[in-house]
Formats: sequence, C-alpha cells, structure tokens
Amino acid sequence: MVPEFTVTRNRWEELPPPLHDRGVINRFRQYLPVSEATPIISLNEGSTPLIHSPRLSERAEAEVFIKYEGLNPTGSFKDRGMTVAVSKALERGARTAICASTGNTSAAAAAYAARANILCAVLLPAGKIASGKLVQAYLYGARVIALRGNFDDALRLVRELGSLDGIAIVNSINPDRIEGQKTAAFEIVEELGDAPDLHVLPVGNAGNITAYWAGYREYLARERSTKLPAMIGFQAIGAAPIFYDRTFEKPETIASAIRIGNPASWKEALAAIFESQGSIDVITDEDILAAQKWLAQHEGVFVEPASAASIAGFFKWCESDDPARSFQKIPEASRIVCTVTGHGLKDPDVIIAQMKELKPVAATLSDVRRAIEG
Ligand code: F0G
Repeated sequence: MVPEFTVTRNRWEELPPPLHDRGVINRFRQYLPVSEATPIISLNEGSTPLIHSPRLSERAEAEVFIKYEGLNPTGSFKDRGMTVAVSKALERGARTAICASTGNTSAAAAAYAARANILCAVLLPAGKIASGKLVQAYLYGARVIALRGNFDDALRLVRELGSLDGIAIVNSINPDRIEGQKTAAFEIVEELGDAPDLHVLPVGNAGNITAYWAGYREYLARERSTKLPAMIGFQAIGAAPIFYDRTFEKPETIASAIRIGNPASWKEALAAIFESQGSIDVITDEDILAAQKWLAQHEGVFVEPASAASIAGFFKWCESDDPARSFQKIPEASRIVCTVTGHGLKDPDVIIAQMKELKPVAATLSDVRRAIEG
C-alpha cells in the first residue's frame, strides 16, 4: 500500500544550505512567479555545468562554453520549466498534467507529476519517440498515449483538452514553463560575470530560445549584466519552418526531439532573433550526427542528436564565408555559449545503428592484447 499524501510544505526548506538551496525555484525564487502559497515540486534541477571547450574555442578563435543541460534530473533542460509549471499547477488545484511531446517534455512532466502525486497524460507521435524518453514516461507512471499523427497534431489536441477543469497543460505554451527555463540564462550570466556575446541553441517548438532571451533581457534590466547576446538558433533542414518561413506538413529529421513543423513559439522566436540581431539557420542530419560524435570523442560530452544541432551549427558558422552567417568576423575575445539540451543516453538507437557488430574474443591474454591493438 502506498500511503496517500498531499504536498503542503517542504520541511527541507528549513534545512541549512546547501541542502535547501537546490533547484531552480529555490535558487531564483525572487525572479519566478511563486509565493509562500506555492507548493514547490523540485528534483534539484538546474545549476548545470558550463564547460569551457578549448577545442571549440580554437575553431572559432573565441572563448566557447558548453551549457550541458543533459545533466538535469530527467536528462534534459525541460526540468527547469517543469518544476515551475507543476508547482503552479498544483497551487491552482490541478489533478492532471497533460502535454504533447517529442519525448523530453513527457519525461520531465511524468517525473514532476509523480513527485507531485498527480496524474500525467502524455500525447506522443507513435513510433517517433527516442526509446530512452519513452522508457522514462512509462516508468514515471504517466498515461502514455501514442498518437497516429505528429507532434503538431498532439499539441493541437492538448490545447483542446487543456480547457477542461483540473487539467494543466505543461507544454511551453504555459508561461510558467518559460519562466523556469529562463533560469539557464541567469546561471550563464552569473558564471561568466556577464552575458556572452553569442548564444547558440537548437530550435524545435521554440520555447527555449524564447526563454533564454527573456532571461538575458531580465538580467540586463536588473543590472546583473551589461549586454545581450545575439541569439543564434539552428533547425534541422527537414524540419525548419522558421528558417523557410512556412509550416512543414511532414517534418523529418534524425533529431526526433526537434521534428516539429509548426512551432508554438514561432513569433516569440522571431522576436528574439530580430531583437538580439541574431539569426536562424539550418543543418543537415549528417552534420548533426557528425557533431554528436565529435563532441563525445573530443570533449567527452554525450548529447542527443537535437542537442548536437548546436554544435553542428557552430561548426557551420566557423567554416562559412557568408558574412551574415559566420563567426569569421567576430572579435577575438568574444564569448560563445552553446546549449546542449539533452543527454545522449536518451536516444541510444541512433548510436546503435552506427555501431559495428561486436565479435566476442577468447578469454586469453594474447587475444585480448591483439583486440586492444586493433
Ligand atoms: N533539444 C531537445 C533535446 C529537445 O527535447 C527539444 C524540444 C529542443 C531541443 C527544442 O526546444 O522546443 O524549446 O525549441 N523538445 C520538446 C519535447 C518539443 O516535447 O520534448 P524548443
């Protein structure tokens, strides 16, 4: 028997730091829409590493950092927004969290809903979810609904279901999600002592680029930083509605997390790009897979394909002569942050497909030595 309980107050809030100091709501409470009345649902998300990369720095002749969001509790940046969205949903009396997802949102929603002791329903495009993410939603106890349709169809249905009583939509169309996700920008500013000059990230439903831009603007307004970065987003070429300025009926890319043809935050993303004097560009699936491998083998950072879109785009801009889409003209002391959004273990199938068959060797010293020498 699992005992029934309702979340009232977190006793651990009375514990001394650092124990009570974890999680984005505790760390950035003053900048988030929470009050004493909000029951805080947290898994100690956020405070992810900002890793300096000497090799990427050399390529761009600038200082380059990787914001490794795959180290959040469910393995993606979604946890930042989900702690706020689920806490606020609970405060408003919701008993069910619902979302459409390409995988990571569903994993985060399922985990935070489990922690909050509420039901979670996730609508996923059937057959299009990376196995690690599906396993997460299942094990965290969500109602997993495989939809004959794509992400855009799922989000349309979720919008309709969200108007029912007691149901909270926890997609990034919920402003609480954006509020939580903006904290990644805060962390970067605090760590670097100022905002970077350029910020590179993958774009799918476009919530994250919207959230980072909000975070950077807020810290500038509060005089925590002195400048704003140019926001540079990358879409997969087969799922690039913002770049091509048209919806994609059948978006296709190996980076299943960003296989989206009609992003919900399209307008906001364009505003972020325009206001920041940034850009939106595309990369191929081949570039994404090559960047994923490069990052693992040269930096020891394993990310899922959608996250590698940042790095693929970074390389494209290092090599490009197009004056509007290149790092060649940036000043040498420029600081570039590349967000890598999700952990590589989320999508093992992409890697397994590239692996050679493992042939067992005999358990003798000579055979093993020969195998090591290749
Ligand atoms: N990277 C990863 C790993 C993602 O899971 C997503 C989005 C993005 C990048 C793009 O972020 O949508 O804010 O522009 N995943 C959503 C999901 C759509 O359902 O998990 P965005």
